[in-house]
Amino acid sequence: MKRRSLLSAMAAAVVPLPDLKLLDAAPETYWKRLRDEQFLLPDWRAYMNNGSLGVAPRPVVAAVAEYLERGAGMIGSEYPRWGYELMESHRKEAAAYLGCAFENLAITHNATEAMSMVAQGLDLASGDEILMTDQEHTGGKGAWLLRQARHGLRVRTVEIPMPPKDSAQLVDRLIGAIGPRTRVLSFSGILTTTGLVMPVREICRAARAKGVITLVDGAHMHGQIPFRIDELECDFLAGSPHKWLFAPPGCGLLYIRDEMLERLWPTVTTEAWTNRGLKAARFMQVGTNSRAVLEGMGAGIRFAQGIGPGRVYGRIHELARRARGLAAAIPELELLTPEDDGLYGGLVAFRIPKPVFARFAEKAAAEKMWIYGSDLMRIATHVHTRPQDVDRFFALLGESRSA
Ligand SMILES: Cc1ncc(COP(=O)(O)O)c(C=O)c1O
Repeated sequence: MKRRSLLSAMAAAVVPLPDLKLLDAAPETYWKRLRDEQFLLPDWRAYMNNGSLGVAPRPVVAAVAEYLERGAGMIGSEYPRWGYELMESHRKEAAAYLGCAFENLAITHNATEAMSMVAQGLDLASGDEILMTDQEHTGGKGAWLLRQARHGLRVRTVEIPMPPKDSAQLVDRLIGAIGPRTRVLSFSGILTTTGLVMPVREICRAARAKGVITLVDGAHMHGQIPFRIDELECDFLAGSPHKWLFAPPGCGLLYIRDEMLERLWPTVTTEAWTNRGLKAARFMQVGTNSRAVLEGMGAGIRFAQGIGPGRVYGRIHELARRARGLAAAIPELELLTPEDDGLYGGLVAFRIPKPVFARFAEKAAAEKMWIYGSDLMRIATHVHTRPQDVDRFFALLGESRSA
C-alpha cells in the first residue's frame, strides 16, 4: 500500500502572512495573528531567549521537511547535496537581504565556524596582536585563543563600559587600543552580554585606516537590526541566521571582502580549494551538507522579507523598549541597556541580586519560560513575543524580590 506523504499535514498548516493592511488598522491584532498562525509556539509559552536561538516559523519548518522528504526519494543528479555545490541561489537570496555581492558570501554551519575559518586562515606571526572586547562570545574568541596557544599570537581585550556613555566612546576605546603589533580587530556588532549595538562602521573604517583587519561577529545582527554589509566597511562578517533571521538551527554565513578572498586560506578543504575563481564559495567546499537546512534558511529570509525588515525591527524594538521601561522601574535591578535607541535593538540587560535571580529562575522554570543569564540577565524580544510575555517576565521578577 502506498502511504501518504508525511508533508501533506505540514503543507496544509502553512498559510499566507496576515495582510499588512491589518498592521496599519490594528497592529496588536496583526502581531497576534502572526504568532498564532505562523509559529508553532504553544499559546502558554513565553519564549524570552531569542538571543541564544531563534524560532523557526511554520514555512521554514515546512521547507526543511519538504526537502528532506523529497530527498529521500531522489537520486544524486536530482538532489545536489555533496558539498561541492556553489549554492548560488541560496547565496544570492542571502546576499540580497544582507546587502553584499553573493560572490563575497559563503554559507557555513554557524557563526562560530565562520569565525574559526577566519582565525585559522589568516597568515599571522608570533607576536602579532588580536584585539577584541572583553565581552566576546566564546565562539568568536576561541579560535584566536587557540592561535595564541599554538602560534604565539597575542590576544588583548578592551573593556567596554556597561553601559557606555555613547557610541563615540566605544569607537575611542577600541581604536585607541590599537598598538603597533595589532593586526586584527575581532569584535561583536551586537554584544552577547548586554545586546549593546556597536558602531560597527565607524570602528571598521578607523581600523582600516590604521591597516588593521576587522572581523565582525554579526551573530546577533541580521534579523535584529537593519544594516547593509557593504556599508559596514568590514573585512569579514560572521552570521547566524538561526538566531534572529528565522532560519533552522545549523546554518551560518561568512562575508569576505574582495581583498581578503586572496589573503584567507581555506581551513576545511576538498578538491576545489585551489580554485580561486569560486571566490567565497571556495570556503564552503566542505563535503556533504544538509541542503534541507539551507532551504529553511531561504524560507526564513523570505519570511522576514514578507513582513518587511523595517517592520520586524520596529516591533522588536518597541517590545524591547517596553522591557527596558519595566526593568528601570524595579529598584533592585541595575539597568545595563543605555537609553539611546540606537544602542540596542531587541536585547535588554540588567544586573540582578543573586538570591532574586535564584527565585526568578525557579518561577520561570515552573512556567517553562526560557530565560537567559544569571546575576547578569538578558531578555530578548522578537515578532513572536507578545506584550503580555514581557509583562509576565517582569511580573515574575517583581514577585521574586522578596522570599
Ligand atoms: C555574539 C555571539 N557570537 C557567536 C555566537 C555563537 O553562534 P553560533 O552557535 O551560531 O555559532 C553567539 C551565540 O549565542 C553569540 O551570542
